[in-house]
Amino acid sequence: MAGMRVTLGQLQAFAAVAKLGSFSAAAKALFVTQPAISKKIHLLEEEIGLPVFEQIGKKLYLTEAGKELLNVCAEWLKNWEYFEQKVADFKGLKQGRLSIAVVTTSKYFMPRILGPFYALYPGIEMAMEVINRDRLIARLAANQDDLYIMGMPPQDREIIAEPLMANPLIIIAHSDHPLAKAKTIPLQTLATLPFIMREKGSGTRTAVEKHFQEHQLTVPIIKLELGSNEAIKQAVAGGLGISVLSRHTLGQHLALEGVAELKVEHFPIMRHWYVVYPKGKSLSIVAETFLQFLKDNVALLKK
Ligand code: PGA
Repeated sequence: MAGMRVTLGQLQAFAAVAKLGSFSAAAKALFVTQPAISKKIHLLEEEIGLPVFEQIGKKLYLTEAGKELLNVCAEWLKNWEYFEQKVADFKGLKQGRLSIAVVTTSKYFMPRILGPFYALYPGIEMAMEVINRDRLIARLAANQDDLYIMGMPPQDREIIAEPLMANPLIIIAHSDHPLAKAKTIPLQTLATLPFIMREKGSGTRTAVEKHFQEHQLTVPIIKLELGSNEAIKQAVAGGLGISVLSRHTLGQHLALEGVAELKVEHFPIMRHWYVVYPKGKSLSIVAETFLQFLKDNVALLKK
């Protein structure tokens, strides 16, 4: 039967005629003229290659082909109604899926927004991927998610990047570090201290390297490379060296975490968190709603 071109309108007309037993009743029910209904049925029969109704006396009967079609059609129209219902739900945001990818460092605040959003839209299914900047950019390039949260939007592709909030990167040392109380530490001093750095591909690392380049300084010797902010925090607290982390990876009271912020000149590196998506992407209603919610409720992220 490949190649039959039957339209939804024809099937609706057919189902109405079959149900109501006359062309005029079907026309009335569907708010169209009787010739419009006749035309649809005629085209349908032409497409199928067999009549679907036969008139005996004044009464209209389904042919064998008509009966078969009615079976298929009833099922199909039911599915279509279900689909229409779903679409209405999407529009009313009762349902839908939201996929966000966030850079590792934003996992300290991004999940906080999910609870309040979910409370407003409980029917929405949410997925949040937590990955480093390189992997996030690969997902962005493949258009895998609705929205992306990152600290350093890529320059080499067409994107929309809206700043969300400040993202200071600070230098931390063990809380008893000899420099912990110093007022202004020259940037060069850092070069002499053992440095712990995030893995290659991390946005934090890229920002640190860029910052040193901008101040024409060589990046400190990396004593240890660690692929997690949490591990870095613990290593610094354990006295292994100093590091740069987003202020958001640390709680309100640094001392409680065994670390102190070093007051180094040209620090903190003042950056921003951005919400990013490909230019030209048509955001789903769910994504659009989440984006607006995020912008309206940035305060929730700072708690
Ligand atoms: P990262 O990214 O978690 O990959 O270091 C953070 C950022 O881009 O600021």
